Amino acid sequence: MSTITTQQKRFWSPAVRELEPYVPGEQPKIQNLLKLNTNENPYPPSPKVVAAVQAVLENSADALRLYPDPDASALKQAIAKQQHVAVENVFVGNGSDEVLAHIFKAFFVQELPVLYPDITYSFYPVYSQFFGVKTKILPLNDNFEIVVDDYKQPNGGIIITNPNAPTSIDLGLVAIEEVLEANPDSVVVIDEAYVDFGAESAVSLVEKYDNLVVCQTTSKSRSLAGLRVGFAIAQPHLIAALEAVKNSFNSYPMDRFAIAAAVASFEDQSYFEAQNQKVIASREQLVAQLNEIGFKVLPSSANFIFASLPAKDAGELAAELRERGIIVRYFNKPRINQYLRITIGTDEQNQRLVDTLKNDILV
Ligand SMILES: Cc1ncc(COP(=O)(O)O)c(C=O)c1O
Repeated sequence: MSTITTQQKRFWSPAVRELEPYVPGEQPKIQNLLKLNTNENPYPPSPKVVAAVQAVLENSADALRLYPDPDASALKQAIAKQQHVAVENVFVGNGSDEVLAHIFKAFFVQELPVLYPDITYSFYPVYSQFFGVKTKILPLNDNFEIVVDDYKQPNGGIIITNPNAPTSIDLGLVAIEEVLEANPDSVVVIDEAYVDFGAESAVSLVEKYDNLVVCQTTSKSRSLAGLRVGFAIAQPHLIAALEAVKNSFNSYPMDRFAIAAAVASFEDQSYFEAQNQKVIASREQLVAQLNEIGFKVLPSSANFIFASLPAKDAGELAAELRERGIIVRYFNKPRINQYLRITIGTDEQNQRLVDTLKNDILV
């Protein structure tokens, strides 16, 4: 994009001139590329998902002409069934990024600051700036773990990614309950984008805590990043705030294809479970292989790992991998600039990564 001059920016709303937008991981068009940079699932979604998308067009000539269900009821029902909650506990949105945006607007625009860790999903500061949310950033400890006691101070809300990104480390439900108990008057959001790869979900706590919102996505464990379906689970008084925000912004965020495909995914639980087990097994194998060649890998409960090689600069390593057609995520940020975030691929893809490191880069 060409540079926009200050003169041209005079047309922009003043607040938009100051925005620092989120920068998504690259989606480059390079041949024979091994893309291990955006935590997509290496396996396709359930075949039933593809059939459901095709059926949308085949079954109704009006599928494109008419608006979809503004409430996406079929999808909410499928999620409620799979998550063992009532339909009234479910909110859906165009990717969990949109659900998170509505969460920031619905709960976090308060007098007191929202608390979140210094190293976490990099969209939180972006939404905070966008919605004018005050923030207080709390450092993870030296092992990149959350210090639960830090979350026992006055606040306007709390958001914790579990397992955390990009560190991959998970926080147990005991610690999450401690945070919930200590903050009965503010909303605690647990962003569980990666929970299906080995962490325990806080959805089981929703009935007990009237201040808990759990956010999940179909992008990772259901291989549907291209579909854009995310959801939140909470008690109905919190869901009502999210619906109010959604219906003040876009009443039809879920198109017909997204609804049909995600329903099919939630109904095919055995495919989902088998596929996640494969990713977890591949992760363990990759960690062992990387340990063997000198990497330190943080304990992962996600579909990615966070790894450093003491003998080599992480930025250089990312660049050398890239020259060989392998893309991993490198964050040039304080505390984590000697780590690489590597998405778990198929066993074959992981082997290509290990072989490239072992036989080409680190020789
Ligand atoms: C922690 C976390 N939350 C939310 C998201 C957003 O996922 P999506 O908008 O694809 O549902 C991501 C995506 O990478 C993530 O890492």
